[in-house]
Amino acid sequence: MEKIAFFDTKPYDKLWFDKLNTDYNIKYLDYKLTPDSAAAARGCKAVVAFVNDTISSETIDELCALGVKLVALRCAGYNNVDLKYAKDKISVVRVPVYSPYAVAEHTMALLLTLNRKIHKAFIRTRDFNFSLNGLTGFDLHGKTAGIIGTGQIGRIFIEICKGFGMNVIAYDPYPIENSNIEYVPLDKLFAESDIISLHCPLTKDTRYIINERSLAQMKDGVVILNTSRGQLIDSDALLQSLKDGKVRGAGLDVYEEETALFFEDYSSTIVQDDVLARLVSLPNVIMTSHQAFLTEEALQKIAEVTLFNLQQFYNGEALKNEVAYKK
Ligand code: NAI
Repeated sequence: MEKIAFFDTKPYDKLWFDKLNTDYNIKYLDYKLTPDSAAAARGCKAVVAFVNDTISSETIDELCALGVKLVALRCAGYNNVDLKYAKDKISVVRVPVYSPYAVAEHTMALLLTLNRKIHKAFIRTRDFNFSLNGLTGFDLHGKTAGIIGTGQIGRIFIEICKGFGMNVIAYDPYPIENSNIEYVPLDKLFAESDIISLHCPLTKDTRYIINERSLAQMKDGVVILNTSRGQLIDSDALLQSLKDGKVRGAGLDVYEEETALFFEDYSSTIVQDDVLARLVSLPNVIMTSHQAFLTEEALQKIAEVTLFNLQQFYNGEALKNEVAYKK
C-alpha cells in the first residue's frame, strides 16, 4: 500500500478519511507541514496538506529531496503554496468545491449573531440575567449588502441575503454574464453598503482590499464580514475603525496572522498577538477560527475528492483538480 503523509490532522478529518479510504496507508501527523516537518514525508510520494500548512519554496525543496511528487490540498484555497516555485517540481491538487453552502451559511450566522447579539444573550440568560439593555440590533430587511467576489460562495450568500429581503450589490472583475446580480464599481460598493462581505480569493490585487482608505469610503456603522482569507483585511486599520465607531461590527472567520494560532488550543497561554487580543476582546467582533467550512457534508466531500485526486495521481492519469501556476 502506498504511504501518504497527512499533515495537521484533526479528529474530524480522520473520521471521514478512515471511513472512505481503502487503498492507502495514511500516516496521520498532528503537526503542520513546514520546511522543518517535511522530513516526516520520507517514504511517501504524496502528502496531504491543509490551509495553514506552509508550502513555501523551502518546503517544496525538502519534499522534492524525499521524492514527494504530489501535494494534495484538502481545501480550495492555495495561497499558502508557492505555485511558481512548485511548477515542474511537484504537482499540486486541491478540492475546488466542497460545500459553498457551509461557508455562505456560516457568513450569515456571523452576521445574525453580531447584529442580534446572540453571543451576549446566551451568556446573560445562563446567568439568569434577562435584561435586554445593550442588545438592540437592526432589521436586515431593506439594508444593502455589498458582496466582493461572486464565485461559488459569494453567489450563495447573495441568495441568502435576498431571502432576508436585503438589496444586494456586488463587485467582481469577472462578473457572471446574464445573471440577476447588480454589479457596481468597488468604490460605489464601499460607499453604499450597510454590510460588506468578502468572498474573493487572496491575490496580490485583493490583499488588504479592506484598508484605511477603503474603510474611510464606507458608511458610518458598516458591518464587515470575512470568511475568505485573513489578509484581505488590514487588521490594524479595521481595529482602529472599530474603536472609533466607524465600523459597527465585524464577523471574522479568518485572520491575517492565523497560521500560527488557528486550529489549536491556546487557552492556557498568553497569546502575544496584541491586535488579535484586542479584536477578540471587543463586544462587536465575533471571531471563529476558520470554521466556516466545517459541516459533515463538506468533510465527507473533502475526503472523497482528496482520495479521488490521489487515485488519479497513482494511476498516472491527468490530474483533474491540479492547480497550475499562472503568470
Ligand atoms: P471562487 O473561485 O468560486 O470565487 C472567487 C470569486 O472571486 C471569483 O468570481 C473571482 O472572479 C472573484 N475575484 C477574483 N479576484 C477578485 C477581486 N480582485 N475582487 C473581487 N472579486 C475577485 O471561490 P469560492 O469557492 O467562492 O471561495 C471564495 C473564498 O472563500 C476563497 O478565498 C476561499 O479561499 C475562501 N474559503 C474559505 C473557507 C472557510 O472555511 N472560511 C472555506 C472555503 C473557501
